[in-house]
Amino acid sequence: MTEQRRFNRAGLILNPVFQYLEEEDRYLSRRNRPKYRFNLIGAGIIGQEHIRVTLLEGRATIHGVYDPNPRSIIAAQREAQKYDPDLNLVIYDSLDAVCNDPAVDGLIVCTPNSTHIDVIHTVAAAGKHILLEKPIATTVQDAFTIMQLAMQHRAVFQVGLQYRFKPQYSEALYEILERKTIGQVKTIGMAEHRMPFLDKVGQWNKFADYSGDTLVEKCCHYFDLINRIAQNRPKTVYAVGSAAVNFADFEREGRRSDILDNGMVIITYENGVTANFNLCMFAPMFYEELVVCGDLGRIKTTEHEDFLPHNRPVTQMEIATVDDRPSRMTQPMYPALIQHSGHQGGTYVEHVEFVDQIAGKPSRAASAEEGFWAIVVGAAAQASIATGAPIVINDYLEQMGLML
Ligand SMILES: NC(=O)c1ccc[n+]([C@@H]2O[C@H](COP(=O)([O-])OP(=O)(O)OC[C@H]3O[C@@H](n4cnc5c(N)ncnc54)[C@H](O)[C@@H]3O)[C@@H](O)[C@H]2O)c1
Repeated sequence: MTEQRRFNRAGLILNPVFQYLEEEDRYLSRRNRPKYRFNLIGAGIIGQEHIRVTLLEGRATIHGVYDPNPRSIIAAQREAQKYDPDLNLVIYDSLDAVCNDPAVDGLIVCTPNSTHIDVIHTVAAAGKHILLEKPIATTVQDAFTIMQLAMQHRAVFQVGLQYRFKPQYSEALYEILERKTIGQVKTIGMAEHRMPFLDKVGQWNKFADYSGDTLVEKCCHYFDLINRIAQNRPKTVYAVGSAAVNFADFEREGRRSDILDNGMVIITYENGVTANFNLCMFAPMFYEELVVCGDLGRIKTTEHEDFLPHNRPVTQMEIATVDDRPSRMTQPMYPALIQHSGHQGGTYVEHVEFVDQIAGKPSRAASAEEGFWAIVVGAAAQASIATGAPIVINDYLEQMGLML
C-alpha cells in the first residue's frame, strides 16, 4: 500500500481494537514508515494542530520541536503520543539546532506573528521545505521581504492560509473557479462573527505590534479567499472599525490591549469585482459566511457553531443558478476524524498539499505571494480606519518604496 492516507486508514491505525494484532498481521491498520520528517518551531495551539494532522496524514512525521515555553513542549509531546504512542520528540534548545538537523526534511513555523520576520531568516538559510503560518508578517514591508526570500528559496515555501481547504470553501472555489457554475464573478461578500480572541502564550494577540492587528492577524484568511475568488489585485480599500467591546480592561505588563474587535471593509479590484468583509468579534458563536454573485448565479457558504441545543450542520453550501443549470444545497464535509482534527479539516488538507508539493506534485496551497497580498488588504484596511480615507493600493505600496 503506497498511499497511507487513502481509505480513511488513520481511523483503523488509531483504533485500539486492533492492538491485539501482531505487526505482521496488520495490513489496512498498519502504520507506514513516514517518508518525510518535519521539525516544529513554536508548539502552541496551532503547532499542536500541525503535529496532529501530520501524524494523521501519515506520509510524514514530526521529528522534534523548539519552543522556549516548557508547557508548550509538554503539550506537544502529549499530542504526538496520542497519535503515535512510540513517538518521542527531539527537544531542541535553539533555533539554529531545530533548523539544521540533517535528519529533517521540512520546518513548520508556528511562532507568534511578530517573530516570523526574524525566525524566517534562520529557517530559510537551512534550505529545507517550509510551512510558515499566517500572517507571514505583521507589516507590509516585512511581508514583502519574506515574499522575496520565498521566491529565492529552492525548496517548497508554503503559507498557512488553509481556510481555502475548509470543506465549504474548497467546494465553493471549485464551483466558482473550475466549473464556472455562477459565470463571471461580480461581487463577493464575506463575514466572520465570533467570540473574542482566545488566550495565547504571552497574550501576543491582544497587541497590534505583536499581531499586526486584527485585520492582518485574523482576517488575512478572508482576504486571501476574496483575492482568490476575485482572481485579481486589489485596487482600493476603504474600512471602518473600532475596539468596541472586547478587552477593555485587559492589561499586561502595564500595557492596554489596542486591537480592533470589529470592522467593515470594502475592496475594489482592477477587473471591476467588488467585495465587502464584515468582522464582529463579540458574537456568542463561530460563524463564517461567503456570498459570491456572478452573472449566472450565486453561491453562499456558511460555517456555524453556536453552542445551542440543535443539530444544524456546521458547514453548508447553497448554489442558485439560472434556469438551465441545476441549483443545489449541500453540506460539504470530510470524514469525521479529519473534519474534527482542526479548522474543519482544512489544516489536514493543507498537509496533504504540503507533502504533495514536496513530492513535486502541483498544489492549491497558498504561496508567499498570496500571503503578501492578503496582508496588503488587511494593512490597507487598518490604514483606512486610522485615517478615515480610502486607500489606493498602488499609491500605498509606492509610498513604502514597494514597486510591484
Ligand atoms: N492557520 C491558522 O488557522 C492559524 C490558527 C492559529 C494560529 N495561527 C498562527 O500560528 C502562529 C502561532 O499561533 P498560536 O495560536 O499557536 O500561538 P500560541 O501563543 O498558542 O503559540 C505560540 C508558541 O510559540 C512559542 N514561541 C514564541 N516565540 C518563539 C520563538 N522565537 N521560537 C520558537 N517558539 C516560540 C511560544 O512559546 C508558544 O508556545 C501565529 O502566527 C498565528 O497567527 C494560524
